[in-house]
Amino acid sequence: MSQLAQSIFAERAAFYATSAVHADQAVLDRLVELAQPQATDRVLDVATGTAHTALAFAPHVAHVIATDITPEMMAQGEMLRAEAGIENLEFRMAEAHDLPFEDAAFDIVTCRRAAHHFVDVAKALREMTRVLKPGGRLVIDDRSVPEDDFADATLNRLDWLHDHSHVRQHRASEWRGMMQPHRGASQEAGCKIEAIETYTKHRPLSAFTNGVDAVDVAEIESIVAGLSADQRALLNVVEKDGEVYLNHWYITVIGVKAS
Ligand SMILES: C[S@@+](CC[C@H](N)C(=O)[O-])C[C@H]1O[C@@H](n2cnc3c(N)ncnc32)[C@H](O)[C@@H]1O
Repeated sequence: MSQLAQSIFAERAAFYATSAVHADQAVLDRLVELAQPQATDRVLDVATGTAHTALAFAPHVAHVIATDITPEMMAQGEMLRAEAGIENLEFRMAEAHDLPFEDAAFDIVTCRRAAHHFVDVAKALREMTRVLKPGGRLVIDDRSVPEDDFADATLNRLDWLHDHSHVRQHRASEWRGMMQPHRGASQEAGCKIEAIETYTKHRPLSAFTNGVDAVDVAEIESIVAGLSADQRALLNVVEKDGEVYLNHWYITVIGVKAS
């Protein structure tokens, strides 16, 4: 279990509950649309945090189990659940790499904005696929990086400086490799990819620096200050109203477990 992730998210739990970026309704609505939930479905939300994804799915399905390793995050989620008057959502502690559920227990498994914290994302994907019913959908949304070595290294470094429990934001090509079953590979999750969508959000540099130690803020600012004109264009670095903005890349991957 990642004790570093637990302690960092315990400290930042109240922020995640109210964060506009994490509560982004358009993204949540799109995930629900892509998942095609049925009223009888049982859903598992892995690394639920403050439960934005679990809460978005609950009105469309029979039951949602929301799991995480950080009780403080789920406590915030429980408050949001009670405020929304949602009755079909329960919380449980669970490590994403070792899910305490039987095979084929869920119709849909979701995991949003969390896989970049997993030390072995391929293993977590195999676990999520194991607990899915044949024909069920695996719904992943996460921070990502473009297929460019410099952008990949820079964005991963910035996110690690923001949060030392960050492991890796993956490229779309890596997600394809991890999800798609192909003969001879032992790493893949075993889901057929039904959809892959990428999107960006133009966000202030303070999204990286807020709540971060001074030494890490200094490195974040120095990385951005040292970018060449081409590198600034690649990352869409722009000054607006006295603040520096840059792109954050995201990916949504929908997999279907073989029947
Ligand atoms: C950014 S939050 C998740 C956001 C949430 N899924 C949503 O849609 O708003 C990341 C969460 O991942 C959890 N986490 C990190 N590593 C984990 C692991 N190995 N197993 C389960 N949860 C983990 C953290 O505790 C944290 O609550």
